[in-house]
Amino acid sequence: MIAPPRSAVLLLLLLLALAASAHGADPVKLFCGTTGNFTANSTYQANLNALLASVVTTAAADGHGFYNLSASGSTNAVNAIALCRGDVGATDCQSCLNDSAPQVARQCPVQKEAIIWYDNCMLRYSNQSIFRAMEDSPVFSWWNLNNVTNNVDQFNQVLRNLMDSLRERAASGNSTRKFAVGNATAPNFLTLFGLVQCTPDLSQPQCDDCLVSAIGQIPWFSNQKQGETVVTPSCNIRFEVYPFFDPSAYESPPSPPQSPSSPPSPPTNNASTKGKDTNSGRMALIITIPAVGLSLLIAGMLCFRLRSRRLKKNFEAVPVDEIRNAESMQYDLNTIRAATDDFSGANKLGQGGFSAVYKGTLANGQFIAVKRLSVDLGQGDQEFKNEVLLVARLQHQNLVRLLGFCLEGRERLLIYEFEPNSSLDHFIFDPVRSRQLDWERRQKIIVGIARGLLYLHEDSQIRIIHRDLKASNILLDAEMTPKISDFGTARLFVVDQTRDATSRVVGTYGYMAPEYAMHGLFSVKTDVFSFGVLLLEIISGQKSCRFCNGDTTEDLLSYAWRNWREGTPSNLIDPNLANGSRTKMLRCIHIGLLCVQEVEADRPTVWSVISMLSRNSNTLPLPSRPAFVLRSIP
Ligand SMILES: *[C@@H]1O[C@H](CO)[C@@H](O)[C@H](O)[C@H]1NC(C)=O
Ligand SMILES: *[C@@H]1O[C@H](CO)[C@@H](O)[C@H](O)[C@H]1NC(C)=O
Ligand SMILES: *[C@@H]1O[C@H](CO)[C@@H](O)[C@H](O)[C@H]1NC(C)=O
Ligand SMILES: *[C@@H]1O[C@H](CO)[C@@H](O)[C@H](O)[C@H]1NC(C)=O
Ligand SMILES: *[C@@H]1O[C@H](CO)[C@@H](O)[C@H](O)[C@H]1NC(C)=O
Ligand SMILES: *[C@@H]1O[C@H](CO)[C@@H](O)[C@H](O)[C@H]1NC(C)=O
Ligand SMILES: *[C@@H]1O[C@H](CO)[C@@H](O)[C@H](O)[C@H]1NC(C)=O
Ligand SMILES: *[C@@H]1O[C@H](CO)[C@@H](O)[C@H](O)[C@H]1NC(C)=O
Ligand SMILES: *[C@@H]1O[C@H](CO)[C@@H](O)[C@H](O)[C@H]1NC(C)=O
Repeated sequence: MIAPPRSAVLLLLLLLALAASAHGADPVKLFCGTTGNFTANSTYQANLNALLASVVTTAAADGHGFYNLSASGSTNAVNAIALCRGDVGATDCQSCLNDSAPQVARQCPVQKEAIIWYDNCMLRYSNQSIFRAMEDSPVFSWWNLNNVTNNVDQFNQVLRNLMDSLRERAASGNSTRKFAVGNATAPNFLTLFGLVQCTPDLSQPQCDDCLVSAIGQIPWFSNQKQGETVVTPSCNIRFEVYPFFDPSAYESPPSPPQSPSSPPSPPTNNASTKGKDTNSGRMALIITIPAVGLSLLIAGMLCFRLRSRRLKKNFEAVPVDEIRNAESMQYDLNTIRAATDDFSGANKLGQGGFSAVYKGTLANGQFIAVKRLSVDLGQGDQEFKNEVLLVARLQHQNLVRLLGFCLEGRERLLIYEFEPNSSLDHFIFDPVRSRQLDWERRQKIIVGIARGLLYLHEDSQIRIIHRDLKASNILLDAEMTPKISDFGTARLFVVDQTRDATSRVVGTYGYMAPEYAMHGLFSVKTDVFSFGVLLLEIISGQKSCRFCNGDTTEDLLSYAWRNWREGTPSNLIDPNLANGSRTKMLRCIHIGLLCVQEVEADRPTVWSVISMLSRNSNTLPLPSRPAFVLRSIP
């Protein structure tokens, strides 16, 4: 994750750079970072030059095609990653890196951070630690100008199956190679050729996440092209209707591919194939705004403060015996270090703006998830313990259980029960795994989330507003019971519970209610808004921000609203939901739209959402326009 302020600036610059064009010439794409500059003849520059030189010599000495290097120094460390395309031979790899090193130094002469992409290789450096860190922004893509004109849905189905099987194969690669190529037969006598690759330092889930995000950039819903390349710092994908890689790179897949012969699902999405003409030039370049980036951009525009304020004494008094109880919840740092293999990259499950999460195994065999807070709040130890105790008191079948905490020196860790099935986003947005979630399961998940939220809002002793409800915060246990995670962390991170626009906005673009995104105001209704977005995502299998890329401004809410207005809400339903009550699905869409209405007061409470979900007879009010819908849409 890129840190907030720099991301905001970076995105603004990216937007300004929209005019830039990328022609077939070398390099294909260059990105000069906006984190900061070094001064001429500084140690940083010397380290960088040495590093770039050693990339070339290392590549000459070792033909693996992946290189992670760093020039150390306490304050002037430079880290670099170089990656050659998996089918490129040692000589070509070396010559590509030999070209890229001087080129990037010339093109980004003062920037501490830069990335250069060629057809055959990628080189990236930063003063931050980039090894084993998944980074899917910035994203760049360019495409073949030829449109897919006939049988677009079938073409997309074949393409999706191909990309998904390649993604799974690449992600399960080893620590020196995460790469896969393949082909598939598409309609109109076309053969599709696909290639996906991650930097092999990533873990399997990191690689998978990066590729899911890159595959999501393919214009599935408008003007599909006969070829496209998407590059991000940690992974890249490409498909074409002609062979563009070395056929010796084919390998027999370890297991039969996942139902490649399954019949293409019926076209359900009529609106999307209507063209949105965005191309000009031989190769068009789009710059996409990843969801997180945009949220940070908004946050940046709010000029929110980076330094967190001191905890206000606005939490409830904790009874003395519970404070004593805190000792029993306290874990020893060495225990947690041992459990997580000293917070090893391999155990890292995720990274957020304020924390990283690791999987761990206690000596007794119990699996745990450890959240390591990375922000120093200047919060006293006792205050931290009090907050942990309050959060630990929240226990519900649909909430992830907080087992304890650890507090030593500057380390602040929260220890949770571990949920084996990872999070909801890994299922609903994944074309293959989403098939496991039939309508029955999805209904149970929707109701479970609503129950957990109701508990937070109404039933627990303290009212908790989640503020960052999203698919990746819904964990699934072995029975696929949804468990809300990250609740109450707003209390631990954001210490000012008043309605105050200057306090830090936690949240994710695409899920944030307008009053919260723009004014920092939050209430139970901001959570209802996020719930509504989540509901629409669960039914459609689409990310709320899936459409938020350079050429189309239509996000899930706009799409849902437009179809609702045009009387075609069934366009929204995930094609994988072939069985199940259509009426109930449409009712869920209706409820989702009620939750995302622009006016806070119009949104239902969670309690009424649950009663609307459970009773199918009563009529629902008509929704008004959701927030963030483009004004041009009536
Ligand atoms: C990288 O450089 C930026 C800008 O000079 C600085 O703010 C940041 O702290 C540096 N990061 C590291 C890890 O040194
Ligand atoms: C870094 O240098 C570039 C090019 O000279 C300049 O446009 C940019 O504003 C500088 N950035 C910072 C943070 O000083
Ligand atoms: C950096 O060093 C070069 C030669 O070593 C010199 O020409 C140049 O003036 C120096 N620049 C600065 C800003 O000191
Ligand atoms: C490079 O990767 C190896 C493992 O492949 C690791 O041991 C080493 O620490 C890494 N180097 C850097 C500078 O991150
Ligand atoms: C690397 O580039 C230099 C010129 O920049 C050239 O002289 C040298 O032969 C190249 N080496 C390889 C292996 O391509
Ligand atoms: C592809 O479609 C776009 C928009 O519909 C159109 O402008 C463009 O000319 C088409 N390209 C070709 C090669 O037909
Ligand atoms: C990684 O996998 C590749 C094949 O994909 C194989 O050639 C290579 O030897 C493997 N490397 C290690 C370290 O296992
Ligand atoms: C498609 O891939 C298979 C291996 O999976 C390979 O044997 C075959 O030659 C490829 N077809 C084309 C047209 O490249
Ligand atoms: C989609 O369009 C086709 C013809 O283009 C039409 O037959 C079909 O009814 C439409 N489907 C929906 C859901 O509007």
